[in-house]
This record gives sequence, C-alpha cells and structure tokens, in this order.
Amino acid sequence: MMSDFTREFISKNNISFIGMREAALSLLPNDKMVLDKLYNDLKRGKDILDDEIHLNMYLMCFGKMHKAKLDDAFACLPDVSSIFSEGIEIYDWGCGQGTASICLLDFLRSRNIAHNIVAVNLIDPSIPATQRAREVLSCYEDIRVNVVNKAFDDLTEQDFVRSNHRKLHLFSNILDVDAFDLAQFIHFFQKSFFGSNYFICVGPYYFNNKRVDEFIAATDPDDMYATFNRERGMWQKDWTISLRVFFKEFNRIESILDIRKRIEDFHKNDQFFAGYILDSVAEEYAKSDIEKETEELFKSLSAFDVKSNKSLEIVKNCDSKLAVLANIVSRGLPTIAPVEIENIFSDIFDISTKPLANEVINFKSKHKISKTEINEALHVVDPRFDVDFYNGDMLESQFEKNFIEKYLNKTDSQYLIQLLEPQRPLSLWETTSFL
Ligand SMILES: C[S@@+](CC[C@H](N)C(=O)[O-])C[C@H]1O[C@@H](n2cnc3c(N)ncnc32)[C@H](O)[C@@H]1O
Repeated sequence: MMSDFTREFISKNNISFIGMREAALSLLPNDKMVLDKLYNDLKRGKDILDDEIHLNMYLMCFGKMHKAKLDDAFACLPDVSSIFSEGIEIYDWGCGQGTASICLLDFLRSRNIAHNIVAVNLIDPSIPATQRAREVLSCYEDIRVNVVNKAFDDLTEQDFVRSNHRKLHLFSNILDVDAFDLAQFIHFFQKSFFGSNYFICVGPYYFNNKRVDEFIAATDPDDMYATFNRERGMWQKDWTISLRVFFKEFNRIESILDIRKRIEDFHKNDQFFAGYILDSVAEEYAKSDIEKETEELFKSLSAFDVKSNKSLEIVKNCDSKLAVLANIVSRGLPTIAPVEIENIFSDIFDISTKPLANEVINFKSKHKISKTEINEALHVVDPRFDVDFYNGDMLESQFEKNFIEKYLNKTDSQYLIQLLEPQRPLSLWETTSFL
C-alpha cells in the first residue's frame, strides 16, 4: 500500500528530490516544540531512521544541504555522459530514503544526460526508509530497484547478483557512521564487485574525523578525481563538506588483516597544526576588513606534516596533561602565546605593553605594526622549497601532477608551487566575490 508521503509527493507533481522535501514539509506539524523534539531525536542524522515523521524531519533539516553536496560531487565525475551511456549499476550505501540515488537522477536530468542505469541497489537497515526510496524511484523512469535491509557488517556476497556492469557507489552521509568495520566492508567489496567501480562520498567535515580517509586508504583508489574538505564558512551557507570522488578497478581479494594494516599505515602520516599568535598582532587585524583572510594565512602557516613508523591516531583516555600538550602541537590554529614568548617579543621589538602583576594578561599593542604589514609578512615564499617537499596527495588530477612533478620539477621555478592552488569544485567559485 502506498504511504501518505508518496501520495502527497505524487499529488504535488514535482518528481524530484526538491519535490520530496516539499512533500515532507507539508506533512510535518507546525508546533515548534514538536519540531524541536523531532530534531533532537535525529541525533544529527546518524541513527537508523525508522518512521515517517522522522524521515520527513530529516528531509526538512538536512535535505538541501545533502543535495548541494551531492551535486558538487556528481560534477567531479570525469566525462559523466560516457559513464552513464553504457550499462551501469548504482549502489546507494546507507541510502536512508534514497537521497543520493534520487539526487543523481535529478542531476542527470538537469544536465540532459541520457543514462543506461541497469539497477539501483538500496542498502539500509531501515525498512520504512528504503520503502519510501523505492516508491519515489518508481515515479521516475522504469528503473529496476533492489533493496537489501541489512547493516553493512551483516552483508554477504549472496545479497547481490554478480554482473559485469560498471558500478557507481554512493556514500552519502554514511562514512562518518562508525557502526561498521571498514576493513571487512572493503574485503566484501573486493569479493563482490570485480571490475570498474566509481565512488562518490559526501558528508560533513570535522577535524579529527579520519573515517572517510580510512575508507580511502582501505579501498586504495586507482584514480582520485576530487578531494575536498571545507570548514564552516568556507563553502555554501554555514555547511561543512567532505567530498571524495574516485575510481577503483577491483581485481584481487586481500585478507581483512592486510586491509586493516593499510588503514593503520594511513595513520602514520598526518597533518597537524601548531602556532602561537601574539596578543598585539591579533589586536591589529582583529575585527578589521582583512581579519578572515589573515586568519587563513596564519592557519596555513601553522600546518606541518608528520610521517611516523607508529600510528598517530589519537589515544582515547590518556593522561590529561599529555592530552593538553598533544592539543597544542596538533591543533594550534594558532593559539595564544605563552607569557615568556610575549615578554621576549615585547623586549626585543617594543611592540606591546606588558601587563602589570594584578592585571589580566594581555600584551596590548603599541601600534608599531599595521594590519597590512602583518598580512604581507604572512605571505611567505621560501626560495628553498622544491618538489620533494610538496605534498602531492592533495592534487586531484593527472594534469596537475604532471605539471608539478614533470614540468616544474628540477627547474629554477619550482619554488612557484607554493603559490599554486589545486583545483576546486565549481560551487566554490560561485561563492567567491569576484565572479
Ligand atoms: C545520516 S543517514 C544518511 C542517509 C542517506 N544516505 C542520506 O544521505 O540522506 C545514515 C543512514 O545510515 C543507516 N545506517 C546506520 N547504521 C548502519 C549500518 N551499520 N549499516 C548500514 N547502514 C546503516 C541509517 O539507517 C541511515 O539511513
């Protein structure tokens, strides 16, 4: 029997993800207290959603954001028309109510891309959510939909029919859910999906969440098409984003242990941040027109990479003093400088007034340096910097890699790589002020 939601969705005559969200909004109560309670229930959208009203609330709260992320990710696929012109199967992992598959169909339609999607596979433990996804998908073209209502750890090869078609795997807001074993999951992929596999992964970005990159390390992609993390305020609205698009040809089955080892090895390389900022320096640019860009410069200068033979994963429940120390040398973005350092700069450069013994510790600026001088000083270009120092992991395309590793390498101009910015998704350009 068709649900009230699907009836409402069809009656609105807008067969799209936006239409789905509109149907959800019209079925939600107006009472703010009830809405607040529903929002709290969602626990930031990580639990298994298992009734209509929570599915509606989820669409209201997160629908627009998820669609924006997915649209950006789809646009990073290389030569989209040709990928979809041959037979391809879609796997929507932790699909919920089918957000990713439905947004994909909308994306293809918006670009007038004819597709040859052989089947959409929906995998999620929630029966009501997948039921809704199936009903909505049936309002689109005639596409075969298979549903597997299982948690990932319970999946077996028998849950899917083997095929030679290429596959597109959608991971929308599921990789940060740590309720499944990544090594076991990729082992299952290697057994089940021999051949060509495209991956789209989107979700929130937060510091210290390494799960998405653990997933990448476990999969060991052949081609990385896009790697993109943005904090709040650096992408659309106040949303964060973590986006990965890549390709993998599975042609061998490794042991779970070997895959787990690759994940552990990934934790031996990491980027941290450590930096101090003097009170008087912060005072000069704070609340000025260049505050935001100056902070970004400080942040990039505070970054450093560590390669180790031991895992750099943060140990839970360690001594609190060690935790504070670790925080200073890993998350200093930058932090307030110790009094000893403030004193030294005040003595040598006379840029600040020392606080008296009974005053709040704040080294007030004597206004001897301007915000512009500070900003200029932060544009560090090191003439010794060469390609060997460059962290090529962030490069997204072979063209970028060739330009740096083949064209600039060993030339007198290789220091210029400090000034180059890797590719960015188009959405970021749309939000920059000069376009
Ligand atoms: C944040 S929602 C994302 C839903 C959908 N992909 C989207 O972007 O709207 C997380 C989904 O993961 C599912 N889930 C939770 N634990 C899971 C597990 N162990 N295995 C598979 N799916 C799980 C939930 O049922 C839920 O639908």
